[in-house]
Amino acid sequence: MRTDSSVRIRSADDADWPAIARLDATCFGVHNAPETFRAWRSLIPADGSVLACDGDDVVGMAHYLDLTVTVPGGAVLPMAGVTLVAVAPTHRRRGLLRAMFAELHDRIERSYPIAGLTASEGGIYGRFGYGAATIEQELTVDRRTARFRDDAPDPGGVRIVAAAEHRDALAAIYERWRTATPGGLQRPAPLWDEMLADRGEHRRGGSAWFTLLHPDGYALYRVFGDDPMFVRVAELIAVTDDAHVALCRALCGLDLMQTVRFATHPADPLPYLLTDARSARLTHHQDDLWLRIVDIPAALQARNYRADVSTVLAVTDGFRGSGGRFALQIRDGRAQCTATDAPADVELDLDVLGSLFLGGHRAPAFAAANRLRCKDSDLLASLGDAFASDVPAVLGFGF
Ligand SMILES: CC(C)(COP(=O)(O)OP(=O)(O)OC[C@H]1O[C@@H](n2cnc3c(N)ncnc32)[C@H](O)[C@@H]1OP(=O)(O)O)[C@@H](O)C(=O)NCCC(=O)NCCS
Repeated sequence: MRTDSSVRIRSADDADWPAIARLDATCFGVHNAPETFRAWRSLIPADGSVLACDGDDVVGMAHYLDLTVTVPGGAVLPMAGVTLVAVAPTHRRRGLLRAMFAELHDRIERSYPIAGLTASEGGIYGRFGYGAATIEQELTVDRRTARFRDDAPDPGGVRIVAAAEHRDALAAIYERWRTATPGGLQRPAPLWDEMLADRGEHRRGGSAWFTLLHPDGYALYRVFGDDPMFVRVAELIAVTDDAHVALCRALCGLDLMQTVRFATHPADPLPYLLTDARSARLTHHQDDLWLRIVDIPAALQARNYRADVSTVLAVTDGFRGSGGRFALQIRDGRAQCTATDAPADVELDLDVLGSLFLGGHRAPAFAAANRLRCKDSDLLASLGDAFASDVPAVLGFGF
């Protein structure tokens, strides 16, 4: 691959932000408001922006946000949230992303045990040690034919409100949810401001927010189309099963909407509430949060586990060579993990460890694909059980 020697990698300063905004709009197709940039910038640490410059022109960029992520068991880890990654169409496939990532990860790895991102395309980030850790799904319910089962709970308690007037209630529910959910991210005040500002360019042809509020949950949705109209639920946060079913029932009660599209995850119980589970059609299934485990012992010791395991992992990191061999002892839900010279029982690349970390993917499936190598079938089964999570992993919000 040709690396362009006329391109310089450097940090960004305040004067670069108009050019950053222009490159963002060009590469992602949306002109974001200055307030949107201000909100996200407030989460970028001083060393968190790396640019690729050709003369005076900004032709590439990569940034990270100072985030926290919840892991199985409820511990919260600092996470570098890699974001605003783009290379100008005039400078693609010359190694700019690789050069910026090398610099950005030098910085990230000084302070964070884990890095995360969401990917525009699935083929880019495995080579950088990121593995898809959570899954997003869309369930589309044709609400004219869907029926709730007679034994499905009907707890009620849902009110129609204006989101901006109930910000504290929404934020408190989200906070309860994200601290209990692997993949949950703390949502700082500037991002609440930004979400509730409900800017036209983020509606993508839909209505302003509609909001349903329950004491233990909420749903934010938009209406699209004219005849027929349909609903897209952007965020349904439920801390209890009652809140979940109450919100689903309220949304499916919108008589004049043909379909309700729920942005959700593979463990959503919605299909089980219906007389015909096929009425909740799977219309989208994709990777969501990707993780690169930076400090393997710190990350593996932070989460809890569902089975005992004693093994040695050999982890390969083709990007930065920061893998190695690690003795992993899991007893009563907690892990001890230390570097070792002992021979390995299990070999895997760092991206696969990222995929296993929140319990969203299982070790035996990676073994079947030869991406995790383990000769002992009992050990493989135990690894699969151990890394599963009681609470399904769901990304808190896109970044
Ligand atoms: C994705 C993007 C940042 C890649 O930048 P780039 O400078 O062309 O990438 P590089 O030349 O440094 O390529 C780095 C590696 O990634 C690979 N790669 C780059 N883009 C890829 C893609 N879209 N799909 C699969 N692999 C890709 C390259 O082949 C190269 O592989 P190698 O180093 O292992 O040989 C750029 O195409 C872009 O800005 N796209 C539009 C915006 C976007 O999608 N941003 C990412 C948001 S998550």
